[in-house]
Amino acid sequence: MPSLLKVTNLCKSFTQPSGLFTTREKVAYGPVSFSIEAGQTLAVVGESGSGKSALVRTIAGVLKATSGNIFIKGEPLESLSSQQRCLSVRMIFQDPSSSLNPKMTVGKILNAPLELNTNKNATERHDKIIETLKLVGLLPDYLAFFPNMLSSVQKHQVAIARAMILDPDIILADEILTTLDISLRFKIVNLLLKIQREKGTSYIFVAHNMHLVKHMSDQIMVLHQGKIIEKGPTATICEHPQQEQTKYLLLTHQPDYRK
Ligand SMILES: Nc1ncnc2c1ncn2[C@@H]1O[C@H](COP(=O)(O)OP(=O)(O)OP(=O)(O)O)[C@@H](O)[C@H]1O
Ligand SMILES: [Mg+2]
Repeated sequence: MPSLLKVTNLCKSFTQPSGLFTTREKVAYGPVSFSIEAGQTLAVVGESGSGKSALVRTIAGVLKATSGNIFIKGEPLESLSSQQRCLSVRMIFQDPSSSLNPKMTVGKILNAPLELNTNKNATERHDKIIETLKLVGLLPDYLAFFPNMLSSVQKHQVAIARAMILDPDIILADEILTTLDISLRFKIVNLLLKIQREKGTSYIFVAHNMHLVKHMSDQIMVLHQGKIIEKGPTATICEHPQQEQTKYLLLTHQPDYRK
């Protein structure tokens, strides 16, 4: 059976100006190859500029790979329609304060992907919205709320609901917790783990906080200058890191509850 997500020799480079009339290729990452199975969480870690966001944004379809392939359940990603892609892979954006439209109620925010990507009628959409609000721990009353009426955690809950409303196979989360205090981060992480248990969703999770990564992930992939330098089960990587960069990440990201 094919892997849920398989990435082979994926590369992304950007063309940048290097002089008045000249350009040069800047490699963001690659070539990288890995796969992820249903219900698993892969944490992508690495120093700033190592290519984590560019990689995740390529899988989300926001960036186009320079070369290489992405397969979802054996099908090349580019052969899927945008609807099929949305039903398979959804991204949670970094800062819900800016990614949730302030002029739309929570109900409208959650209705939009259903209207665009499914054939559900108004009643079915309403039922799905209520079910998804419940999944993320929000009462149906929140349907009528605007984002500015929500706390920072509730905004995250709505952002997760928006990602989950189409029951995707894979959720991509790029440093979604950086704007929250540590205790609230664990609340959101525990919510994501609960959703994973209930729905079997897979996560690709970019994070800097190794304590959260240990708590949340099954596998860790360490990027350095766009290349995978270490990858394996979370416990193995955390207890027996092989590469200097991994040791450094583990040392410099000890839990600090004062932050
Ligand atoms: N749109 C772009 N144009 C040109 N170069 C880019 C672009 N986006 C990313 N890069 C380059 O690609 C490399 C990887 O960037 P990326 O944002 O993926 O790093 P990152 O690992 O997510 O870093 P951080 O931890 O700071 O978020 C960097 O050298 C960056 O300058
Ligand atoms: Mg990034």
